[in-house]
Amino acid sequence: MRVLGIESSCDETASCVLEDGKILSNVVSSQLVHKVFGGVVPELASRAHQKLVVSVVKQAIEEAKISKEGIDAIAVTNRPGLVGALLVGVNFAKSLAFGLEIPVIGIHHIEGHMHSVFLENTELKPPFLNLIVSGGHTQLVNFIDFGNYKTIGKTVDDACGEAFDKVAKMLGIPFPGGPNLDKIAQAGNPEACNFPRPMLGSGNFDFSFSGMKTAVKVFLEKQTQDEITKNLSDIAASFQEAVAEILVTKTVSAAQSLKLKTIVVTGGVAANSRIRSLMAETAVKQGFKVVFPRPVLCTDNAAMIAFCGWKRLLKGEKSDLTLTAFPSETI
Ligand SMILES: Nc1ncnc2c1ncn2[C@@H]1O[C@H](COP(=O)(O)OP(=O)(O)OP(=O)(O)O)[C@@H](O)[C@H]1O
Ligand SMILES: [Mg+2]
Repeated sequence: MRVLGIESSCDETASCVLEDGKILSNVVSSQLVHKVFGGVVPELASRAHQKLVVSVVKQAIEEAKISKEGIDAIAVTNRPGLVGALLVGVNFAKSLAFGLEIPVIGIHHIEGHMHSVFLENTELKPPFLNLIVSGGHTQLVNFIDFGNYKTIGKTVDDACGEAFDKVAKMLGIPFPGGPNLDKIAQAGNPEACNFPRPMLGSGNFDFSFSGMKTAVKVFLEKQTQDEITKNLSDIAASFQEAVAEILVTKTVSAAQSLKLKTIVVTGGVAANSRIRSLMAETAVKQGFKVVFPRPVLCTDNAAMIAFCGWKRLLKGEKSDLTLTAFPSETI
């Protein structure tokens, strides 16, 4: 089955073609229009998707070396996300499905992130523990089977990616904050500043990142601009180390408690170099298998959406042409 994927929930316009779950093409166009604002501007995101969607889908079909008549179904992100941005992808997917007389299925963006790991790890099978760390989400999920998930912990305030982006902004690191902070931190000493590890000993699997943001803010207020500039990589590395330690400690302890042997980390923040290395070192030492998608498959892409759609279509699921977009994840 060939599935065309479309993703437009935030600031990436993405499309792909999968054949029986294997990537034939995977096109991601990151919108540059937001750079001058230091963050994603929803109205500009919708307009940029509108401009890009046709050419990105066309490119995905061309790179897959098929014609549009060779597509069997379309999977599109329809929740959660920026509603104007989602509507562009959903409406385009519905129109194309209507024209080609093929099924369309609406996919939950986070369920998509959870499936990104299967794209290049074909031998991986549930159950496993899935840490999802992205721009808007941080949660620990027991991936029991396809379509059967149990959340065992989540952030009580900010998402991990949001903390990376806000701390990057405070440090004057340009957009996109998370990946740029990661690069700068590579030259720094992770023990230079002693930032807190909120909820590390909370006795549950929840997270909190808003206090860390405040701790960095308070620390910066006591420094001169010259000191901040001089010690930028040390501050970035220390913040990143604190986040990595929290994520790794909680995840390993959750895997122990659930007696799961495999840990999977997905979502944009799973691209972070220190989180990857610390998780691998710690969890492997304790006897767990750790699997990450490649960094390009951690951040937003359509292949993860198409894979999740393919799994659901195989079960006989599909949406009808009343499919619409929802900003919230509870729907
Ligand atoms: N190398 C990195 N280090 C730290 N953070 C990173 C890195 N790469 C990406 N991120 C962060 O990942 C987030 C983007 O991930 P993703 O695209 O999955 O989020 P989103 O789609 O905006 O949110 P969600 O998936 O929760 O709806 C941003 O917060 C970004 O800063
Ligand atoms: Mg995402």
